Amino acid sequence: MSEASEPMEPIGVSLLGAGNVGAGVLAALQRGAERYAARVGRPLELRRVLVRARARPRAGAPAGALTDRFEDVLEDERTQIVVELMGGEHPAREYIARALASGRHVVTANKEVMAKCGPELLELASEHGVRLLYEASVGGGIPIVRPLGRDLLANEITAVTAIINGTTNYVLTAMTYEGSDYAEALAEAQRLGYAEPDPTDDVEGIDAAYKLAILCGLAFHVTVSPDDIARQGISGLSARDFRYADELGYTIKLLASGRLVDGALDVSVRPTLIAYEEPLGKVDGVLNAVQVEGDLVGRVLFEGPGAGPKPTASAVLADVLDVARDVVAGRGPLEAIRYRKAVVRPPSEQESRYYMRVTVADRAGVLAKIAGALGDNDISIASVVQFEVDEDARTAELVITTHKARGGRLDAALATIRELDEVVEIGSVLQMAG
Ligand SMILES: NC(=O)c1ccc[n+]([C@@H]2O[C@H](COP(=O)([O-])OP(=O)(O)OC[C@H]3O[C@@H](n4cnc5c(N)ncnc54)[C@H](OP(=O)(O)O)[C@@H]3O)[C@@H](O)[C@H]2O)c1
Repeated sequence: MSEASEPMEPIGVSLLGAGNVGAGVLAALQRGAERYAARVGRPLELRRVLVRARARPRAGAPAGALTDRFEDVLEDERTQIVVELMGGEHPAREYIARALASGRHVVTANKEVMAKCGPELLELASEHGVRLLYEASVGGGIPIVRPLGRDLLANEITAVTAIINGTTNYVLTAMTYEGSDYAEALAEAQRLGYAEPDPTDDVEGIDAAYKLAILCGLAFHVTVSPDDIARQGISGLSARDFRYADELGYTIKLLASGRLVDGALDVSVRPTLIAYEEPLGKVDGVLNAVQVEGDLVGRVLFEGPGAGPKPTASAVLADVLDVARDVVAGRGPLEAIRYRKAVVRPPSEQESRYYMRVTVADRAGVLAKIAGALGDNDISIASVVQFEVDEDARTAELVITTHKARGGRLDAALATIRELDEVVEIGSVLQMAG
């Protein structure tokens, strides 16, 4: 089914899923039919639409196209491109594999499947002479998968740093500019439909880790399991951290970062202090952005809407049109670039600057003890500010920033600091960018 079809015969497209993104794709397919036919050289024809609730009408999908049996898609001989928009690992993963094995090209927006088993599905596509495209799986409408896989291919990519979860970026932006606390900002995001009723995957950085695993594959040509990515969510952040960060000239973003260090990879998803004037420090609300550093190109930033039916349909349909043009031209797929297994450094060996907020008894000598614990672990202090004093409790809040230190050294220092009599609480410990 990958070879060229007869002249002017439509190219059959079937959808697996017609939810948020599926509805956007159906609407665009209908509205843009003429334009797409002109761009491809042949019309696209909607063949089957797989859903769970088949009786529910879907705009843009004739009732005859709706089915709740995946086999109906496979058995439709005129389907040449299968577009997977169901989400979740199962059964999407099996359906993608079966579609590829049956000789269909597949376009997917599924980050979980591509993060967990992208390389093996890409090999399966290669074996069967078809393409598997996944532009919408990272960054919604932002073109990033194709630029990394093609336009930046001549570079040695040394770092990818991204804001790739709109929910958390919305929450963090509200905490930065409106002084909201976490629960307030999350409730507002839920009210506006930017956060799921169960926001765990987003606020704990799981969603961002899937996307980072995909980006690392494309940037460094390695397989990284999402489980190998050090992860810290945003639920522990307090409004005070944002106030103090602001006074130091920083905002706080959930940064997904992959960096090559001496041939090994440092990968993490963590709330991170970043200077307001940095390009990623200015990416606010539900916007996403991916910053790539390459030896030839230097630094490039891709920014735009990371979700939503229309922006995601833009990415999905770009893949569909790309494959459809290949079908028309009778072009087979290129050999997939082979990935090697990444050597991921454990968090204890990864280096960063740190910000820490410590509540201490308001007594002389306490700072010297904390400085001693840090110094004993080769961690040098960059700045110390005493921010608030609770006269009644006779406590003060110290905000300490450090120069670069290894995660393991920091943990050792914190264990000592936590045991000091004068230390009431270590409020938060966050990475700092740069
Ligand atoms: N939402 C976004 O802005 C966005 C952005 C980028 C990427 N994505 C990705 O796009 C994909 C789709 O997201 P979405 O927000 O459109 O999801 P959604 O609204 O939950 O839609 C899922 C669709 O798949 C169908 N479906 C689910 N499981 C099925 C099964 N076992 N058999 C048959 N049909 C099944 C559902 O059928 P029913 O309608 O009958 O329930 C529904 O039509 C996900 O991989 C997501 O990560 C989403």
